[in-house]
Amino acid sequence: MPGLALNCWKSGAPQGRGTVLRALWGCLTAALVCACASGAEEPGAWGADHVDKPLPVLVEGGECLFCHRNSIGARWEANAHQTTVRFFDPGAAEVQVLKAQGVEAAILNEITMVLGRDRAQRFLKPNGKYGQAAILNTKWTRTGVERAADAAWDDARFAERCAGCHMSGVDRASGAYSAAGIECYTCHGDVPLEHTEQHELAIFSPKRNDTPELVTAICAQCHVRNGTSKATGRPYATHFVPGDNLFMDFMADLGPETIAAMNTGDQHVLANVRAVIHGEDKSLTCMSCHTIHKDTSTKHKKLATTAYCFICHEGSDMKSGIRPAEVHSPVCEY
Ligand code: HEC
Ligand code: HEC
Ligand code: HEC
Ligand code: HEC
Ligand code: HEC
Ligand code: HEC
Repeated sequence: MPGLALNCWKSGAPQGRGTVLRALWGCLTAALVCACASGAEEPGAWGADHVDKPLPVLVEGGECLFCHRNSIGARWEANAHQTTVRFFDPGAAEVQVLKAQGVEAAILNEITMVLGRDRAQRFLKPNGKYGQAAILNTKWTRTGVERAADAAWDDARFAERCAGCHMSGVDRASGAYSAAGIECYTCHGDVPLEHTEQHELAIFSPKRNDTPELVTAICAQCHVRNGTSKATGRPYATHFVPGDNLFMDFMADLGPETIAAMNTGDQHVLANVRAVIHGEDKSLTCMSCHTIHKDTSTKHKKLATTAYCFICHEGSDMKSGIRPAEVHSPVCEY
């Protein structure tokens, strides 16, 4: 989101919460991981992370697109990741719904960014602090407006609860983001300029052989919506840089019963994450089905049928029908 980006990352100074708190978290979360590991591989057992290190400087999408304009740039502007947070359009249909519900013009005039899409939308404005936003407690949903008694701005909630999955390069100490929306960095990581010669320096280059664990961690940093960072207690990963092992710090409940109780959207994500990171089945990853830069999942139709497919499909084969998906998320408050 070029116009909104804040291009001056202040080296994310590592700061420790009390060791007591960390130790306490260790006990609580060790129980969680053991309860669901079922004797398989230990998810925290490979690689390293940046939880206690500064974040690398985020190179903005605009700079990447200077060279990748033709192949990537053409579709990127419409990509759901790029546009998860975007400039607020005062003429949008949702605004009329908010007005009709009595949200004061003074509040509507302050909104600068919108987050979300056809299920729910939230509204943001700068809160006066570097890289932070206030979030409006009144939201637009598919069924109307969920209006708090008094529409009001919350200065801290977005940084504490949302920023890590809807913005890029979020600082551990302050929760401040270095760029609005989801940038190249969140999936491709800290790509050095030398990658123009040595393509394999960029994660997701076809010249690499990224392991299923590594690519799954990248998508799971945001798509696992029931986890907690040990370091911060926030519901999003701390200083995750693609290539890191997410699960050294990010504790999620990947128990089979928890997953089976989820809507088919979250269920197919968590079942896949569990299978890969517990080493139960590494043959399928998000990328077996999704093509990010074409925004499609059509290649999934060519795969062999397994029990996994019936998370979404019902009946006896792949043509019999799709289970209804009513996606809700306590973390995302819709
Ligand atoms: C100075 C120009 C330039 C810049 C800036 C640049 N790239 Fe590249 N990138 C290239 C070239 C050249 C290649 C080689 C493959 C090609 O020609 O597409 C490449 C390859 C890649 C590949 C692997 C594709 C393949 O076919 O192996 C990825 C992924 C990638 N770049 C991502 C990025 C990201 C993310 C950024 C921003 C952080 C970025 N690039 C910035 C020029 C650039
Ligand atoms: C762990 C990462 C994570 C956190 C934390 C998070 N989100 Fe999300 N959010 C997501 C993902 C992933 C999606 C897309 C899910 C999908 O389409 O199935 C999403 C989607 C949404 C949507 C779009 C719903 C639609 O219309 O489809 C809204 C609105 C939203 N989040 C709001 C929030 C708010 C508000 C917060 C903080 C209170 C928040 N989220 C925190 C990951 C997160
Ligand atoms: C949500 C994750 C995600 C984001 C964000 C993202 N990419 Fe990618 N990118 C991928 C994946 C995954 C691939 C591997 C091909 C595929 O399956 O889509 C890829 C492939 C590429 C390639 C290889 C060539 C190709 O067409 O496959 C280039 C170059 C690239 N991305 C550049 C960028 C740039 C530049 C940005 C930011 C403007 C960006 N990507 C943002 C996930 C992402
Ligand atoms: C930095 C957080 C983040 C990362 C990393 C990320 N996603 Fe997402 N993804 C989101 C959010 C947030 C949305 C919802 C965007 C919206 O609709 O507002 C989303 C939407 C999607 C969608 C729905 C797209 C659509 O058109 O509705 C798919 C599919 C998806 N992501 C797959 C992936 C895969 C595969 C990866 C790993 C390569 C990945 N994502 C990495 C946060 C992320
Ligand atoms: C076997 C194929 C397959 C795998 C593996 C897979 N997906 Fe999906 N996913 C799909 C299909 C098909 C859809 C439905 C797309 C549609 O409605 O057009 C979907 C939908 C989604 C959506 C949108 C859900 C919604 O309606 O809000 C997200 C987000 C998503 N996938 C993320 C992921 C992530 C992240 C992973 C890896 C952890 C993953 N998927 C693994 C096939 C797959
Ligand atoms: C996340 C949900 C999801 C998962 C998991 C999923 N599918 Fe699908 N599938 C869909 C949706 C939605 C459609 C219909 C929309 C479309 O055509 O893209 C579909 C359509 C199909 C079709 C086309 C059916 C027709 O009538 O032409 C085939 C074939 C298919 N899927 C195969 C598979 C296979 C094989 C698997 C397991 C490897 C699988 N799907 C897993 C959601 C899913």
